[in-house]
Amino acid sequence: MSRFDPHSWCDDAQPAQCHLDLELEVDFEARVLRGRAVIKLKVPSSGALDLDGRGLVIDSMTTDDGRAIPWSVAETEDVRGDRLHLDLPTGTKAIVVEYATGADAVALGWLDPPQTAGGVHPFLFSQCQPIHARTMVPCQDTPRHRVTYTAAITVPSPLRAVMSAADAGSGDTGDGRTIWRFDMPQAIPTYLLALAVGNLAKSDLGPRSCVYAEPETLEKAAWEFAEVEHMIASAEKLFGPYEWDRFDMLVMPPAFPYGGMENPRLTFLTPTLIAGDRSQVNVVAHELAHSWTGNLVTNATMEDFWLNEGFTVYAERRILEEIYGTEYADIQGVIRRNALQVNLDAFGPGHKYTHLRTKLEGVNPDDMYSLVPYEKGAQFVILIEKAVGLERFDAFLLDYIKTFHFQSITTDEFLAFMEDRLPGVYEQIDGPSWVDGPDMPANEHPIASARVDRIRDLAAGWAEGARPEAAVTETWSPEEWQLYLQDLPRKLSTEDCSWLDETFGLTARGNYEVLVEWLTIAAGSAFDPALPRVREVLTDVGRMKYLKPLYSALMSNEATPPFAREIFAEVQESYHPLSRGSVAGLLKV
Ligand code: BES
Ligand code: ZN
Repeated sequence: MSRFDPHSWCDDAQPAQCHLDLELEVDFEARVLRGRAVIKLKVPSSGALDLDGRGLVIDSMTTDDGRAIPWSVAETEDVRGDRLHLDLPTGTKAIVVEYATGADAVALGWLDPPQTAGGVHPFLFSQCQPIHARTMVPCQDTPRHRVTYTAAITVPSPLRAVMSAADAGSGDTGDGRTIWRFDMPQAIPTYLLALAVGNLAKSDLGPRSCVYAEPETLEKAAWEFAEVEHMIASAEKLFGPYEWDRFDMLVMPPAFPYGGMENPRLTFLTPTLIAGDRSQVNVVAHELAHSWTGNLVTNATMEDFWLNEGFTVYAERRILEEIYGTEYADIQGVIRRNALQVNLDAFGPGHKYTHLRTKLEGVNPDDMYSLVPYEKGAQFVILIEKAVGLERFDAFLLDYIKTFHFQSITTDEFLAFMEDRLPGVYEQIDGPSWVDGPDMPANEHPIASARVDRIRDLAAGWAEGARPEAAVTETWSPEEWQLYLQDLPRKLSTEDCSWLDETFGLTARGNYEVLVEWLTIAAGSAFDPALPRVREVLTDVGRMKYLKPLYSALMSNEATPPFAREIFAEVQESYHPLSRGSVAGLLKV
């Protein structure tokens, strides 16, 4: 037996899958997907095969030529889920599974019409990263192996299905349903399987990109993300050709638990990015950058997640720098470094989850999600860049992607490649402290910017009475506001909160980054006039980046935990299972 991924039952001594054919009907009433998955094997095989599943309701398993496959749920673990153990008859080329998804499929977010922009139709979306594809499709659910796929998704008309795949046409069934067909010719890890169904319209943005959204949000979305073609061009300069044909985007309803998800050919985005000023397109740059780092070169397991996110944050900054200039990229860097510090402080010094390479046997990756792989990872990449110089580093990046494209690699495989191409550098930059040591090593490269320093000094003087002047703040960008608010004390007096809010109209802001930064202070300070807005955000938005700090702030003040629990009790049913779980942990309910 040779199990290499702590989050999968996949056994390398057994046959490997190479392609999936999915035929699924979306049942909004029962909240299940029902149909069949055909799992093709690389070579005709026989004997033992373990697949991942979680809560799937399986009717039958047969070979593609109709022979019954003996199978059982051999084991169930909290983190890995169900071990579907199959005994393949001689010469099995493909496994046909007739099944339905379970009641608690973590990958699936089922939304009622009131949770959408239009308010009339229901909505469904999947989120398979890190280990939830197995709640949607039986498969070897490890990023170490890749699959191509086709799909035929039947939905009630007039809804539209979209996937992380090429559009292969649609047809009416004649009884009020539409079948949407897809073909994914590029091989992907299963965490990049993605499906969404809703009342969707689309607007073209460029020769290889469009945005899908509900008709009510489409126009605003198209404006907000109109610069995407520039981003693709600038990323291609850095990383080499874009290999996924199209980069389309889907604007989700607000319950989507993340800011963005890099599903290939179709990035999923939270509607909270639509600020009307293009101030949050860094998330688009980030998801686009995953087209190289993550989707082409993929982490072998979640223990190597920093390879996906650290390189992507680095790449995101390079794209932003090219399009919006160094000052914008720097301020984003400082904001995110601050956010990392909040995570590091929460873990406490020396914590094992502050290593870049982690050991996750028995650990659910959703429970230890933090900015460590992102920002510490990016800082490590910056150190490599500084050590060898930009020109040599850019050549190294291109080489890295070309060497490993459409492969999944471990941290060790990356380090061996680095030693081969940039000998001695790992040692020189004290690589081992970064990769296998805790916290931020002392040789971190500081981001220096006069603009950033002025804002930080102003915030640092708050206790001594320093206050921003209207003439100065008038020119502040949303990022500058965010940075200023991040640096203010977490608890302020009622008078101070009132002054800030009355002078700068913070509770009325439409930019969620600024708004939530402010509301976090206001909630932590039990500032009554802002609490209705806190409730509104916690009710409307499911993005965990906003839920976690707001609920934590409410829990940190002795006056507000009952308020936090009351809101959660009221709205938890509308949260995605991931958001619900993470907030329940914070509230200890
Ligand atoms: N791939 C991640 C989202 C993710 C990570 C989902 C792990 C599930 C498990 C995505 O690329 C991401 O990092 N999104 C960020 C935005 C980014 C600008 C840091 C987010 O959602 O906030
Ligand atoms: Zn990412």
